[in-house]
Amino acid sequence: MKVEIYKATDQHANMPNYDEAQENLSWDEVEKAFSWYDTGKINMAYETIDRHVHDGYGDKIALHYKLDDDIQSYTFKEMMENSNKAANVLKDIGVKKGDRVFIFMARSPELYFTLLGALKIGAIVGPLFEAFMEKAVKDRLENSEASTIITTSELVGRVPVDELPDLQHVVVVGDQVDEDQINFRELYQDASDEFDIEWLDKEDGLILHYTSGSTGQPKGVLHVQEAMVQQYISGKYVLDLKEDDIYWCTADPGWVTGTSYGIFAPWLNRTTNVVVGGRFSPESWYDALEKLKVTVWYSAPTAFRMLMGASDDIIEKYDLSSLRHVLSVGEPLNPEVVKWGMDVYKLRIHDTWWMTETGAHMIVNFPSLDIKAGSMGKPLPGVEATIIDDQGNELPPNRMGNLALKKGWPAMMREIWKNKPKYDSYFIGDWYISGDSAYKDEEGYFWFQGRVDDVIMTAGERVGPFEIESKLVEHEAVQEAGVIGKPDPIRGEIVKAFIALREGYEPTDELKEEIRVFVKNGLAAHAAPREIEFKDSLPKTRSGKIMRRVLKAWELDLPAGDLSSMDDN
Ligand code: WT7
Repeated sequence: MKVEIYKATDQHANMPNYDEAQENLSWDEVEKAFSWYDTGKINMAYETIDRHVHDGYGDKIALHYKLDDDIQSYTFKEMMENSNKAANVLKDIGVKKGDRVFIFMARSPELYFTLLGALKIGAIVGPLFEAFMEKAVKDRLENSEASTIITTSELVGRVPVDELPDLQHVVVVGDQVDEDQINFRELYQDASDEFDIEWLDKEDGLILHYTSGSTGQPKGVLHVQEAMVQQYISGKYVLDLKEDDIYWCTADPGWVTGTSYGIFAPWLNRTTNVVVGGRFSPESWYDALEKLKVTVWYSAPTAFRMLMGASDDIIEKYDLSSLRHVLSVGEPLNPEVVKWGMDVYKLRIHDTWWMTETGAHMIVNFPSLDIKAGSMGKPLPGVEATIIDDQGNELPPNRMGNLALKKGWPAMMREIWKNKPKYDSYFIGDWYISGDSAYKDEEGYFWFQGRVDDVIMTAGERVGPFEIESKLVEHEAVQEAGVIGKPDPIRGEIVKAFIALREGYEPTDELKEEIRVFVKNGLAAHAAPREIEFKDSLPKTRSGKIMRRVLKAWELDLPAGDLSSMDDN
């Protein structure tokens, strides 16, 4: 296979040389840039917002929020005051340091005010994606014993308050608020815009992101305050954020990209940050790029592929000349997408690889490096990555194995919430095992090959097959279900379910639709199977585990491999 190479341009000429940066960067040196290195007083909300006001940048725009034709802008000073007000509201109702405070709302300025406000109290924030339905919300709040949820009038109906004994405060942002709920806007109006920030330790909790695995419940990945060190430096070096940049990360804060790179990295770098509400369409996204004069844009392969599918005259209608740096994350960035990016934007699209668990960039197309289209690039300066076999031995170049990272980067998760065995299972010796397979070429570029488990990556989101299977079998017609990711040209993978029906149910198209809607309404839209296939029975191990590997082989017409553990009666 011929690899296309896209040379580094003088666009990023002021960026450090990769090899020098990799050799010289020490996390300790980066920490020294923060005042807490000496004082020991740390708080992410202070470092992202208040510090810049004290440094004389209060009037600089921190946030442009765009919803259709409406743009609201807030300076760093206004962000400070609004988050102080939110902090006062939360503190007055009894939210305390270390409490788990979930935020369950669509992107709006209030989402950012309340998130920062909760951080100012020293609470651990748990962001939830607005498409989550009751079961997904319940699992996360229950597992983390959350004290508080901040949500909207539209979404509060999906919070099963009666089933959550630890939940003390239901804060509703909106105009229709019941008596037993806390009316955020009412309290907010009268709240003081001054607040004494709770100073924390760098190992204190910051954010709890739930992510899917191949088995069991979603896992609560805990990040701590110190993550800011890596989020800051990757914002500076990889996103290449500069004083005058207007930066747009398209991810929702319900996912880690939307917090690490939609909140922390840009504001740690004192950058003007863009948030766009509403739904994706090529027109609305290009309109946002044009109207807000976005210079640095961080999105995902699935979005680029959808934009690629839109007709050429759409792009011609917009002036995208402000763009200078484009990045991607979430799934493999296809070489044809990089090529298309060169054609239409006249810019290289820089792939970045990392995970919820890693908290920040790990392998990147560093701006001053040549891009080999299809490669994730090289380890972030300060990070050591390699390929190891299942026993923990390092493999030579061009051999496929487990993508592994040397323990000890600042943004690494510190805990899987209340699940030490799970946390420990990520490590072999000093190596963190990512769950991805990859190889490294002779020049040190990493090439992604796939997940080693059954986790499905659909439209850049990780969904666990087990969670969907569990929902499916709740449907009265479903006897058993097996879920796999089926390759899809736009979404990377789609969720496909194989279902064996209970006796008395007919395999009809109506039933497929009913089951699909059942998952959509019960779990989340992105988890609903786009394809369903009925089978008389499903392949299982003798211990009763569905063999997704066999389902995948059926789907792709591949050999199913070792079937010795299969129960064949
Ligand atoms: C998994 C992590 C952290 C950002 C978004 C997803 C896949 C992520 C890439 C990439 C190929 C990628 C991996 C990884 N992934 N980036 N550039 N190329 N695959 O976070 O939900 O924690 O999923 O996403 O499989 O393990 P996540």
